[in-house]
Amino acid sequence: MALMDIIKARHSIRKYTDKQISREDLKKILEAGSLAPNAGGGQRSMMVAVHDKELTTHIGKMNMAHFDRTNLAGNYVSKEQPSTIDDPTIKNGFYGAPTVVCVFCQDNFLFRTADAFCIMENMVLQATELGIASCIVSRGYETFNCEEGRQLMKKWEVPEGYACQGFVILGYIDGEQPHGKPRKPGRIKIVEG
Ligand SMILES: Cc1cc2nc3c(=O)[nH]c(=O)nc-3n(C[C@H](O)[C@H](O)[C@H](O)COP(=O)(O)O)c2cc1C
Repeated sequence: MALMDIIKARHSIRKYTDKQISREDLKKILEAGSLAPNAGGGQRSMMVAVHDKELTTHIGKMNMAHFDRTNLAGNYVSKEQPSTIDDPTIKNGFYGAPTVVCVFCQDNFLFRTADAFCIMENMVLQATELGIASCIVSRGYETFNCEEGRQLMKKWEVPEGYACQGFVILGYIDGEQPHGKPRKPGRIKIVEG
């Protein structure tokens, strides 16, 4: 697939079958993440892939434990692939995906979030090329900001001073591919001279 075809084929998927992705595909997706641009060339971020549906679901529920709905009125994300913003009955922030990659970065680094999201974009594009559905999910810090979260980070040997910046969930789509939203006009300008 040409790069532009992959970019156009990628959509945030929030409905998953139970089928797990292969370890081989997961390794390719992680490699793509590891090759992302990173501020100052410091490679400060790290990825922990949870290749286990039960644990992914559990962390997905931790992700929703402190979801703040205060300022969400009037927002909608997707009719075809409703998000936790659209549907308050969704209790698993990872939507039943069987795998999640948690991206951690040094919490005192100015570009921690930017670095992490470069990694995440590389991963979702590589996943798309492999026919694997994905979605970037936020609230990384909140998800691990509890005793259980800290214990998991310790078990996974995430270095001291690191915090989770976000997630990429992975699996196979349940149902039809959604249509992309039309692009808002006026967001691109070319200035010549
Ligand atoms: C910084 C960022 C945070 C996001 N957080 C979430 C999230 O927590 N939950 C979710 O379902 N989607 C999340 N998304 C996915 C967006 O909702 C999605 O990219 C957007 O609706 C556009 O749809 P598309 O990805 O299918 O083009 C996030 C995307 C970005 C870039």
